[in-house]
Amino acid sequence: MADDLCRVDFEPVGKRVDVPAGTTLLEAARAAGVELASVCGGHGHCGRCRLAVLAGAVSGQTEADRSFLSASELAAGQRLACQARLESHVRVHVPPASLVTSQRLQVAGEAARLAGDVAEDVDATVRGWQVEAPAPSLADHRADFDRVCAALAEQHGLTGLTAGPSVLRQLSPLARRTGWRLTAYLRGTEVAGFAAPGRAPVGLAVDLGTTKIAGYLADLETGTELAAAGIMNPQIAYGEDVIARLAHAVREPGGAERLAAAARTAIDSLAGALAADAGIARDQIVAACIVGNTAMHHLLLGLPVRQLATSPFVPATARPLEVPAADLGLELAPGASVLLPPCVSGFVGADHVAMVLAAGLDRAGLDRAVPDQAGLDRAVLDRAGLDQPGHVAIGLDIGTNTEIALSRRGTLTSASCASGPAFEGAHIRHGMRAADGAIEGVRLARAQRGELLVAELRVVGGGKPTGICGSGIVDAIAELHRTGLLNARGRLVRDAPGVRRGRDGLEVLLAPAAETGNGADIVVTQGDVDEIQLAKGAIAAGVRALVAATGTDPAEVGEVIVAGAFGTYLNLDSALDIGLLPRFPNAAYRQVGNAAGAGARAVLLSAAERARAERIAERISYVELTTFPGFQRLFAHAMRFSELPASEPQLGEPQASELQASEPQNDTTGG
Ligand code: FES
Repeated sequence: MADDLCRVDFEPVGKRVDVPAGTTLLEAARAAGVELASVCGGHGHCGRCRLAVLAGAVSGQTEADRSFLSASELAAGQRLACQARLESHVRVHVPPASLVTSQRLQVAGEAARLAGDVAEDVDATVRGWQVEAPAPSLADHRADFDRVCAALAEQHGLTGLTAGPSVLRQLSPLARRTGWRLTAYLRGTEVAGFAAPGRAPVGLAVDLGTTKIAGYLADLETGTELAAAGIMNPQIAYGEDVIARLAHAVREPGGAERLAAAARTAIDSLAGALAADAGIARDQIVAACIVGNTAMHHLLLGLPVRQLATSPFVPATARPLEVPAADLGLELAPGASVLLPPCVSGFVGADHVAMVLAAGLDRAGLDRAVPDQAGLDRAVLDRAGLDQPGHVAIGLDIGTNTEIALSRRGTLTSASCASGPAFEGAHIRHGMRAADGAIEGVRLARAQRGELLVAELRVVGGGKPTGICGSGIVDAIAELHRTGLLNARGRLVRDAPGVRRGRDGLEVLLAPAAETGNGADIVVTQGDVDEIQLAKGAIAAGVRALVAATGTDPAEVGEVIVAGAFGTYLNLDSALDIGLLPRFPNAAYRQVGNAAGAGARAVLLSAAERARAERIAERISYVELTTFPGFQRLFAHAMRFSELPASEPQLGEPQASELQASEPQNDTTGG
């Protein structure tokens, strides 16, 4: 080893790397393949890259270290990896919460079995055919592909088949290995690949989120789910939200290429991990469906994004696309293709279309037998009694960006609001992802003498707490409000029992150092409350503005469907109590898991669902909430920490001119 190289041992991960002195521990971790969380991209703004230096020397503490780590944590050797530069060989301990892969990534979607909302019949675009061809001989000189095609014609009546060079490169050696017994994967008359006999075609569905990527493998013949897993989106290193990533793509030389490569590499490695988990070969994956918001979609495909980042924020294309998997760097079957369902607008993407499909919002209030082949027949809608209370359904997918859909009288109206990453634990003093050690539920009660005590903390993994995740912070704030420690304006009440002065102002102790996994107090600060206030205000105002923009009477709303990973673990009572969600008088609230992922799977497995996704995208009208008159007032009102009525009477009925609904944006550039 050269003298100027420092060796870093990562424990308990078991990885080691030699890097030049002066390298940050975050860069060393990347070089070692240790996936440290780094939401801010290594700028010292997120506090997510903590680790402990067990031995060796690193550079001195920075302001960023001191702002995220307590004196006792610093004394115990804890540092932000992005701030510590190597001065010698070191040994570091990486806590589970700092590892990208340890996060509880919610991949289950109940939506697929919601009231028969998705087709039961599997009708994938690729099918597998078992074929046995005669081996070549001196008397039979036919080319390899010709002899397999002849066998497919003879045994299955399949004619006119074609194959590209990558498939042909696969065929000759494979046929000789398998004794000319093969599985041929056909997409129409095009051969997507060959495999050993008896290997069912498999599809990959991906929900490409701003923060997380969820992937699923399904048997394309039976629809059976073979594996499911989630990883963090490594694009986070270049910005934690869509706006920051678009800015990186537009402003930084090579930025768009870096973002595309990050997403492609992540999806490819997820496909590999899923295949290993399911015990299948990668070249059995013959089709994929990827849904994501419009920015993720464009960055993945390498489409221009400058126009997405500037008003009026239009996509390059909103049409459905099908591209060769190889073009996206995905190592699947050689002729595999990737379907990208349609987007709706610059801020409402295919993930929203998939959520609407899986949650059945396009059919809400309708007799589910009503065919919607060519739009909806008004007479049919009238017969369905759509003026009855309860026929309006609202669906929300809460994430860094929150998309909201409202289904009413056969129309679909959608909006989007920037809710930020606070629910992922970002910008929260002791925020962390929903990994082991995260407080995910809080109940507070006063002791008899009046001082606050923490009655109950629910911790992911069941051990000692090391931080608090999104559902935990919502729960904690609801409890602070309920117990009178937080007023409706979102201010911690000075001098209230349990409220104390911390280094950044007022705070409430949730877990004392002696009871935590990292030996430091876990608190909720006034700054944390402010972050949640902004995020929940944006979501609640978005829902109420959409209700107003569509002229919906809140009493008509019969169902509110909450989708997404955070929404899955959210305590709905707490969300309603703090006004994160408005309380509709006649609505049932449902949490349905990763509906976007379930929608992607449905599209992957069924041509009918694929066509339905396209009809949904055409039917959705997009409302730009920020230009909706009264939105700022709704937003200000929604910042209050109290139960929110579904509408604000002072707003009155919206005028037609107030509705900024745009027509669905389907251009003519896509394929
Ligand atoms: S990556 Fe170190 S603080 Fe964000």
